[in-house]
Amino acid sequence: MNLSGRSVAKEVAADLAVLGGAPAFAEPLHIGRPNIGDRERLLARFNDLLDRRWLTNAGPYVQEFETRIAERLGVAHCVAMCNATIALEIAIRALDLRGEVIVPSFTFVATAHALQWQEISPVFCDIDPCTHLLDPACIEELITPRTSGIIGVHLWGRACDVDALAEIAQRHGLRLLFDAAPAFGCSYRGRMIGGFGHAEVLSFHATKFLNSFEGGAVVTDDHALAERMRLMKNFGFADYDEVVHVGTNGKMTEVAAAMGLTSLESLDEFIGVNQRNYRLYRQHLAGIPGVTQLSYDEGEANNYQYIVIELDEAVAGLSRDALQAALQAENVLARRYFYPGCHRMEPYRSRFPHVLLPATDRVASRVLTLPTGTAVGPEEIATVCRIVRLAVEYGAQVMDRVRDRRKSLDAV
Ligand SMILES: Cc1ncc(COP(=O)(O)O)c(C=O)c1O
Repeated sequence: MNLSGRSVAKEVAADLAVLGGAPAFAEPLHIGRPNIGDRERLLARFNDLLDRRWLTNAGPYVQEFETRIAERLGVAHCVAMCNATIALEIAIRALDLRGEVIVPSFTFVATAHALQWQEISPVFCDIDPCTHLLDPACIEELITPRTSGIIGVHLWGRACDVDALAEIAQRHGLRLLFDAAPAFGCSYRGRMIGGFGHAEVLSFHATKFLNSFEGGAVVTDDHALAERMRLMKNFGFADYDEVVHVGTNGKMTEVAAAMGLTSLESLDEFIGVNQRNYRLYRQHLAGIPGVTQLSYDEGEANNYQYIVIELDEAVAGLSRDALQAALQAENVLARRYFYPGCHRMEPYRSRFPHVLLPATDRVASRVLTLPTGTAVGPEEIATVCRIVRLAVEYGAQVMDRVRDRRKSLDAV
């Protein structure tokens, strides 16, 4: 019996929903339903903040949240904000990035948009197809006199090659910022992500394993930079009536900080469940031809919040998109993160039509992200993996059916 209250055997081809069987799940199985910490503690905090009538503007919960995050990451400053996209924009401005900035295309589009929004050109760099992270070997040929910085993205919570990026940045006099939105709770060579480069940006969006509904932060050891960002996120106010800097509204609310603090208290439990799920997926997916699960370095701290598989169509006999269609037919909402890559999205596709990123294109055509988090149990994982195994086993039939369906949709 699965959590949705139904048990649907997946043993032969006809059991696959895409081939006519009943869907495995009655309710959609999302890749990451939000983790909720201790509800009583959360509601108590809500009551407190309502009693205080201090709802935003650097309230006590925001201050406490900043302190806890900075302590946990071993950094001098955490500047909490309303989300990671605004945090990126503020960090980019505070670091005086301009002209061109080198970024991966294989990332959530907010990384590129945060630059473009400020009329800075993102210069897309290819990734290492094994790590899915910015390939240091591809960076230098992209540096021009207009280049002011590099933004590395710790995708899937796996750390960039921080040392190589820092060395390149230093040699060329560039700023180094990290988009660490997916990497809270992860480490690089034993040191927590958060303290690298000039600054790092975190996300506490509802889809992240630690959430504050919406939320983000910039963490840094640079005192002057932190001070500048505190001004910038609050319209540039240094005091009542005294504006000393251009600014915007990037403040985190007390409600968000209350959720963030409560989530932090359950952090170890969330990571424990993610790690259990990650290991279960490894067991159940082992030996399926053409399916490789992205691994995490067990010698580092990880948050294990993404279960990522890569499909080699030539070996599996099944395309990534056909597998996604087979899973969706079962109500498993597997996602193609971060397809097709920023360079193939607007406005970048039109602005830079000649960008060639072979590793990005290849990885973006192969990856699929599967459900995990505290809303997903061992039985669901076993079922999802059985579907993957069966879909690969009957790959030719699945491909035909998906193709037929597309044809009939196109004909409508
Ligand atoms: C790599 C990356 N950068 C930036 C963001 C934007 O974060 P937020 O939703 O908090 O603005 C995300 C969110 O998923 C992300 O994954």
